[in-house]
Amino acid sequence: MTRAEPQDMLSAVAVTKAFGAHLALDNLSLAVTKGGVIGLIGPNGSGKTTLFNAITGIHSPTSGSLHFAGRDITGRASERIAQLGIARTFQNLKVFRRLTVFDNVLGAQNSASDMTMWQMLFSVRRNETPRRDRVEHILERVGLTDRRHALAQDLPLGEQRRLELARALAREPELLLLDEPAGGMTPQETDTMAELIHDVAEAGPTVFLIEHKMGMVMRLCRHIVVLNFGRKIAEGTPKQVQSDAAVREAYLGSVARHA
Ligand SMILES: Nc1ncnc2c1ncn2[C@@H]1O[C@H](COP(=O)(O)OP(=O)(O)O)[C@@H](O)[C@H]1O
Ligand SMILES: [Mg+2]
Repeated sequence: MTRAEPQDMLSAVAVTKAFGAHLALDNLSLAVTKGGVIGLIGPNGSGKTTLFNAITGIHSPTSGSLHFAGRDITGRASERIAQLGIARTFQNLKVFRRLTVFDNVLGAQNSASDMTMWQMLFSVRRNETPRRDRVEHILERVGLTDRRHALAQDLPLGEQRRLELARALAREPELLLLDEPAGGMTPQETDTMAELIHDVAEAGPTVFLIEHKMGMVMRLCRHIVVLNFGRKIAEGTPKQVQSDAAVREAYLGSVARHA
């Protein structure tokens, strides 16, 4: 792929991201079309989070370009990219620990993902809440209605991750990037999260999902892109990817390296 195609919701064209001499992304091209869940997998350190950081304006690519809904978003500011309709969650959670569940979601409706708690509270006050009903609706969607008055820091990890998802949904994105939403979860919490992601994608935003739990990825995704050393080594349906020799080698190699 050497250019962005108009039918693609998101595309990366020959994106390279260097950290010093290390190429976290190496001439990576990929496209995400509208609808459903698209997976992004690969061994630890293969560049998955770096790609999300490039898409969301946290790091500018060293070269190459990124396109969303027909616009070139390469190197744009995070807030601008968020306004265009991309929301994300973080591998390391970014909920406001000392705010209630309700206030976390309320504040997310009109805050940038990198706002401080004070900036967020100030912006909530200014826009005095015709939107509390929407918060209730989102809390119901993610199953946190009963927890609305709890402080985020008092929730177990599984619920904190659902809260982070709720914050992203509050922005009504067209594209939702989820970075290991089931990381550190129990099998039961993982199942709940998988169902939730399925429902979210069915109702609205296209979901681009980074996840290590292969059962979940294979069950949810209609299309999967596989990275290794910052390069795309395979893509296709879950079945195609599972039977791909390069993918098997990448995962076996990474197990051997970490053993
Ligand atoms: N801000 C950074 N500075 C330096 N190196 C980084 C930075 N972010 C990521 N890297 C490196 O880039 C590579 C890819 O990292 P990452 O995208 O986090 O991988 P993944 O999410 O697939 O596990 C790793 O080698 C990592 O150490
Ligand atoms: Mg990562």
